[in-house]
Amino acid sequence: MSKTVLILNGPNLNLLGTREPQIYGSMTLADLERQCTAHAEGLGMQALCFQSNHEGTLIDRIHAARGECDAIVINAGAYTHTSIAIRDALSGVALPVYEVHISNVHAREGFRHHSYIAAIARAVIAGLGLRGYLAALDAIAEA
Ligand code: DQA
Repeated sequence: MSKTVLILNGPNLNLLGTREPQIYGSMTLADLERQCTAHAEGLGMQALCFQSNHEGTLIDRIHAARGECDAIVINAGAYTHTSIAIRDALSGVALPVYEVHISNVHAREGFRHHSYIAAIARAVIAGLGLRGYLAALDAIAEA
């Protein structure tokens, strides 16, 4: 059976394309989701894309992925650096997690260097822009 992957984007990523384009580039969230969906299909998988600015909504979506998805690709935005609740939700559903950041968080402010998710992730990809999501999908397809 083919794999289903949840692509989860957190707060402010709905502003992609207009938000600090020198850091995040010019692609919109719709572009990103379209390319992820097409890339997953090319790998014989299905991508389910979801974005929310709300911590609880992201947690509810993670819970719903149990029994529905085979892996989660998450860019939790700033919640990466603050949310034990999102980390616990990811641990709780026990699905393989691939953490993605568009920018290289380690080359930015110190508060972006710590991730609550990294320690429970299969992989962390930062600084590759949209390619990070596609690389995570490649890894999931091969896993
Ligand atoms: C981000 C990096 C975070 O520090 C920031 O809060 C974001 C986006 C990235 O994709 O580079 O919202 O996760």
